[in-house]
Amino acid sequence: MSKYLVIGNPIEHSLSPELHNYWMKQSNINSTYEKKLIQKEDIKDLIKDLKNNSLSGINVTVPFKKSVIPFMDGLTPEADETKSVNTIFKDNEKIIGHNTDIGGFELGLRHIKYNVRGKKVFILGAGGVSPSIIYALIKMNVSEIFLSNRTSQKAVELKKNFEIIKIVEWGKLIDFDMIINATSIGLNNKDQFPIDLENLGPNKFFYDVIYNPAETNFLSIGKKNGNFTENGKIMFIYQAHQAFTIWHKIMPKVDDETIKLLD
Ligand code: ATR
Repeated sequence: MSKYLVIGNPIEHSLSPELHNYWMKQSNINSTYEKKLIQKEDIKDLIKDLKNNSLSGINVTVPFKKSVIPFMDGLTPEADETKSVNTIFKDNEKIIGHNTDIGGFELGLRHIKYNVRGKKVFILGAGGVSPSIIYALIKMNVSEIFLSNRTSQKAVELKKNFEIIKIVEWGKLIDFDMIINATSIGLNNKDQFPIDLENLGPNKFFYDVIYNPAETNFLSIGKKNGNFTENGKIMFIYQAHQAFTIWHKIMPKVDDETIKLLD
C-alpha cells in the first residue's frame, strides 16, 4: 500500500490528512496519508524512504518548506522561484520539490469567482506564504502589488525576487482593491494591525490566509464595513487538491462536503 505524509513542527493542527483520506476513499485509492512531527535532521531519512519507495509522496509545512530544498534532485519553476516546497513527488526516480500553495491561491480565487486581473493588491506580511501569493498574483495579471511588512528588510529581500512589488512602510495605508493578510496577526487575539482598516469604505476584498479562527478581526472589520471577505480555507483545500492530482493523477471534487470537512 502506498504511503503519504505531511511533515512539520508543530503538526498536530494539520487538517491535510482529513482532506487526503477523504478524497482517497472517494476515488477508491488504497493508500494512507498521515501527519508526522519531525525535526530538521529527519528530512534526510524521509527522502531516502521516498527513494526506496517506502513512501510515495510528502507534503511539507511550517517550518520546513525551505529546508527540504537541498534534498531535492530538482525543483519545479514554482518551487524554484518562491524557494518554497510544500509537495514532494517522484518523477523517473528523481525527487522533485513543487509548490502547490501558488495553485491553491489561484484556484481558490477562481472557485469564489473573484477576478483579480487588473486589480491593485495590498499584501500585509513577508513571511513564508508571501512569495507564493505574489507568484500567483503576477500569473493572474494584477495591475499592482503593494507589500508592507513590520520588518522592512524582509520586504526588501522579497523585492529582489519580485521586482514588481512596491514596498509600503508598515503602518501606512494605500488605495487598493484587494487586501491580503499574510501575517500571523489574528492567529491569537493579542496582536493588532497598526493601520486603520475601519474607514476604508465598502466594496473592497479582504482576504485572510488564516482559516482558524474562521473570522479574524481583520475579516470582521472588512465585513462590518461592507467589504467582500474570504479566509484561507479555500486556498488550503486547493493546495491539497493540486498535490492529490500530482500524486494520484486523479482530480478530486471540491464540493460543500469537502469544505465542511475542515469546519
Ligand atoms: P516566517 O517569517 O518564519 O516565514 P510566518 O509565520 O510565515 O513566519 O510569517 C510571519 C509574518 O507575520 C511575518 O510577515 C511577520 O512579520 P515580521 O517579518 O516583521 O516578523 C508577521 N507578523 C507576525 N506577528 C506580527 C505582529 N505582531 N506585528 C506585525 N507583523 C507580524
